[in-house]
Amino acid sequence: MTAGASCSHLDNFIEKIENRSLTACILGLGYVGLPLAQLFTSRGFRVIGLDIDELKTRKLQGGESYIGHIPPSVILEMRKNDRLVATSDFSCVAEADTLSICVPTPLDKARQPDLTAVRKTVESLVPHLRPGQLVILESTTYPGTTTEVVLPILQKSGLKIGEELFLGYSPEREDPANPNFTARTIPKVVGANDPASRRVLEAFYGAVFDQIVPVSSCEAAEMSKILENIYRCVNIALVNELKLLCQRMGLNIWEIVDAAKTKPFGFQAFYPGPGLGGHCIPIDPFYLSWKAREYDFSTRFIELAGEVNTNMPYEVASRVADHLSSQGIPSSTARLLVLGLAYKKNVDDCRESPSIKILKLLADRGFTVSYFDPHVSGYVSHRYGRLPGVELLELTDDAFLNTDATLILTDHDAFDYDRIVRWSKAVIDTRNATRNIFTDRDKIILA
Ligand SMILES: NC(=O)c1ccc[n+]([C@@H]2O[C@H](COP(=O)([O-])OP(=O)(O)OC[C@H]3O[C@@H](n4cnc5c(N)ncnc54)[C@H](O)[C@@H]3O)[C@@H](O)[C@H]2O)c1
Repeated sequence: MTAGASCSHLDNFIEKIENRSLTACILGLGYVGLPLAQLFTSRGFRVIGLDIDELKTRKLQGGESYIGHIPPSVILEMRKNDRLVATSDFSCVAEADTLSICVPTPLDKARQPDLTAVRKTVESLVPHLRPGQLVILESTTYPGTTTEVVLPILQKSGLKIGEELFLGYSPEREDPANPNFTARTIPKVVGANDPASRRVLEAFYGAVFDQIVPVSSCEAAEMSKILENIYRCVNIALVNELKLLCQRMGLNIWEIVDAAKTKPFGFQAFYPGPGLGGHCIPIDPFYLSWKAREYDFSTRFIELAGEVNTNMPYEVASRVADHLSSQGIPSSTARLLVLGLAYKKNVDDCRESPSIKILKLLADRGFTVSYFDPHVSGYVSHRYGRLPGVELLELTDDAFLNTDATLILTDHDAFDYDRIVRWSKAVIDTRNATRNIFTDRDKIILA
């Protein structure tokens, strides 16, 4: 491949961005991939959405959504004039100019990185690759993945990386249900390891996002994402630990964080809760711990934060048991109402949610549990299967009367906290969701 040929791929690519004739393919249409597809279409690009889950691609083709905070009207808008086409057929990869990989990066049973989905996705691309395409890994992962895992598989295509095929890494910064940002306005970090890949990646994402943040390499971009998540994980662990101390000291940690955050510099507020949840914060830091071992390096902050955060659901279950025993209610007859399954407010995402763990711990202690989440129904956990207890389809007044205590695990806006406190015998609030309720405060236990 001559420099001239590589130049023509590059020029061709840039021209397609400018005249909006570029076709973008997104691999993995989940919480990250689907909003990215929406953004690409809104910026005038045609999108092919690829997912191995045919239920998802069928729903999208039919104008339906499967993510709570993305309404069907958004999908219908994307489907207009086939600007989005969803499929499970990898042969359409050849039609695309860009290939953004947004597949899961979980931990395996030994809590080590499981890159199976990334590997399988890249392997499925290989037979369909052609010169002039840009591959972008978006999944969160340890520094080195793009170069050590993705690149060798792409090389099986026979295409020269940086000349015929371009490769980069750009981490996602999705914050579902956050009204202050959209996918377009969140600055996008981009990194590549050769000049041509850098140029096309910056040109493409420069045309999609309001601001791109170029860094010197894929590794720097990968590490920046992990740093963001470790920062959250460690700070949440700190405030969770202080919550336990405050409980012993008779102090309200939420009041203290709110006071501290009035400092106009040098302090960012993090809030305690019943434990860490979601696909990112409980998992991603351990991608780095694993990689660090290769360098004989121990990531002690990550391990300690993991220990503190993992313990939080057990602390909540103990607080519940302590309350019931203080009321003389034996576990064999105790009835509890759990509010909120999702890992954070106003979303339907239950992945790694501490609520699921707490439900299990309460059931193991012999309590009779019913649960309700206005955003979730029929949830089956990957780890525990069907959830223990009785799922309520609505929150009737009887639901409160029939229980000894109500446990708030997710502070959804849809809950009527005034009513919850009024009707409950006791409220164990793990989120300070009842902060604005001023009557019956003696019923509320912050946990
Ligand atoms: N959810 C978030 O808020 C968030 C934020 C930032 C980064 N991330 C990262 O983004 C990545 C994706 O996360 P997500 O939350 O969108 O996951 P998700 O589980 O919601 O979606 C992943 C999708 O990929 C599909 N998939 C799996 N294997 C595939 C394959 N071989 N080919 C095509 N599709 C395949 C799945 O069917 C699923 O629809 C992860 O690395 C995650 O850590 C997630």
